[in-house]
Amino acid sequence: MKLVVFLLLHMFGSAHGRCFCQVTGDLDDCACDVETLDRFNNDQLFPKLQTLLESDYFRFYKVNLNKPCPFWTANSHCGLQDCAVKPCSPNEVPEGLRSSSSHNKYSAEANEQSKECEQAKHLGAVDVSLSDETRKALLNWSKHDDEAERFCVVDDEQSPDSQYVDLLLNPERYTGYKGPEAWQIWNSIYEENCFKPFTVKRPLVPNSYQSSSGSEARTFYSWLEGQCVEKRAFYRLISGLHASINVHLSARYLLDDSWFQKKWGHNVSEFRQRFDSELTAGEGPKRLRNLYFLYLIELRALAKSLPFFQQRSFQLFTGRAEDDQRNKEMLLDILQLARSFPLHFDETSLFAGDEKEAAKLKEDVRLAFLNISRIMDCVGCFKCRLWGKLQTQGLGTALKILFSERQIESLPNQSSEQQPSFQLSRQEIVSLLNAFGRISTSIRELKNFRSLLAEER
Ligand SMILES: *[C@@H]1O[C@H](CO)[C@@H](O)[C@H](O)[C@H]1NC(C)=O
Ligand SMILES: *[C@@H]1O[C@H](CO)[C@@H](O)[C@H](O)[C@H]1NC(C)=O
Ligand SMILES: *[C@@H]1O[C@H](CO)[C@@H](O)[C@H](O)[C@H]1NC(C)=O
Ligand SMILES: *[C@@H]1O[C@H](CO)[C@@H](O)[C@H](O)[C@H]1NC(C)=O
Repeated sequence: MKLVVFLLLHMFGSAHGRCFCQVTGDLDDCACDVETLDRFNNDQLFPKLQTLLESDYFRFYKVNLNKPCPFWTANSHCGLQDCAVKPCSPNEVPEGLRSSSSHNKYSAEANEQSKECEQAKHLGAVDVSLSDETRKALLNWSKHDDEAERFCVVDDEQSPDSQYVDLLLNPERYTGYKGPEAWQIWNSIYEENCFKPFTVKRPLVPNSYQSSSGSEARTFYSWLEGQCVEKRAFYRLISGLHASINVHLSARYLLDDSWFQKKWGHNVSEFRQRFDSELTAGEGPKRLRNLYFLYLIELRALAKSLPFFQQRSFQLFTGRAEDDQRNKEMLLDILQLARSFPLHFDETSLFAGDEKEAAKLKEDVRLAFLNISRIMDCVGCFKCRLWGKLQTQGLGTALKILFSERQIESLPNQSSEQQPSFQLSRQEIVSLLNAFGRISTSIRELKNFRSLLAEER
C-alpha cells in the first residue's frame, strides 16, 4: 500500500501523472474501472476489430461530402473549397495555389499562410479512387441492399452526390485543419446542440485561458450534475468524441514532411497540450474520462445489437459467399465478446425511464444528433468531414440501438411475414463498427502515450 501511494505521488509530479491523474479507477455512471477496460480492449477486442474493419464490407463507406453548410457561409479559403485554413482570403491566394511556384508572388506572410493552406488542403483531401472491379462490385451490393427492403433509407445514400470512399486509403490523422474555423465547428456543437443554456459557460473555451476562472468550471459542472442522466451523457459523448479525434491527431502527427518522405507518428507535446491537466486547467483528464465513457456506451450498443445480427437472414453481403459467412462469424464473435464484458451500466439508470419520458428523450437526442451531423457539412477539410460524418453517424446508430432495446430483443420471435420492427442500413452498420474502431484505437493509443510520457521523465 505504501508503495502504491509513493508511486502515485511520484507520478503526479510528472507529465505522465498530470495527463492521467484522474484517469484511473471507477468510471462515473458505470460500475467498471479504467484498468479492466484497458485490458479488455487492448488485449482482446482491438485486434479482432482491426481485422474485421479491413474486410471489404467495412472498408467502403458511402457518403456525400458535397453538401453545402446549412448554418453559415462556409468561407472557402484560398479560393479552393477543400482548403481549410482561415487566414487566407480568396483574393490573396487564387487558383494558382496548386503550383508551388506561385508562392513567390506573395508577401512573406501570405506566403507562410498559403503554405499552411496548401498543407491542409493536401493532407485533408479525400482519396476517392476505387478500382473498376470494386466499383462494379459495389453496384451489386447496393442492388442487394435495396432488395432487402430497408424502410428507413437515409436520404443521403440515395443522392447522386454520394460516393463510396475506401476508409483504409483515408486514415484519420493530422491534416493541418485548425484555427478559428475548426474551433467554430466544435463551439457550435457544444454551445447550440448540447442542451446547455447560454448562461452557463463552458470551462476553458480557447482564447480565454486567463479569464476562465475556477468558478466558471464549478458552475458548469454543477449544471451538468443537475441534468438527467441521458443529457449529461450526451455532453460527455460529444466531449469523448472530441477527445478521441485529438488522440488520433496526436498519435498520427505529421512529424516529417520532406520531398522524399512523409513520416507520421506520436507527438507527445501535442498530446500534452490537449490533455495535461496543468496545461488545460484540469480539463484534460476529464476529457479522457469522457473518451472511456463514449467507449462504454458504444460497447453497450454493440452488445445490445447482437440479436439483430444473429438473424439468419442477415448477411454482410459482398457477393462472395464464403467471405461473407466468415465476416459474419467474425462480427458475431466480436459482439459476443462485447456482451461478455462484465461491467456494463446499471440497466435501470440509462435509457430506461418511464416509456413516455423515454420517447421524448429519444426524440430530443435524435434531433440533436441530426443537427450535429448537418454541422459536419460545414467542416472545411474533407478528410475531417469524412471522419466527422462517419463518427457522428456511428454514435447516432449506437444511440438508436440503445433506445430500441425492446424491439431488438423481440426480433427472434417475429414471424417472417411481419415487417421487422428494427432495421439497420448498410451505411449505419459500416459507420457503427468503424466509429467504434476509432474509439477502440484511441484507447489503445493511450497506452502508447502512457509509456512515451513515462519515458520522458
Ligand atoms: C454481380 O452479380 C452478378 C449476379 O449476381 C454476378 O454474375 C456478377 O459477377 C457480379 N459482378 C461483380 C463485379 O461482382
Ligand atoms: C442546429 O445547429 C445550428 C448550428 O449550431 C444552430 O444554430 C441551430 O439552432 C440548431 N438547431 C436545432 C434544431 O437544434
Ligand atoms: C509536435 O507538436 C507541436 C505542437 O503541439 C509542434 O510545435 C511540434 O513541432 C511537433 N513536433 C514535431 C516533431 O512535429
Ligand atoms: C421469445 O420466445 C422465447 C421462446 O419461445 C421466449 O422464451 C422469450 O421470452 C420470447 N421473447 C420475447 C421478447 O418475447
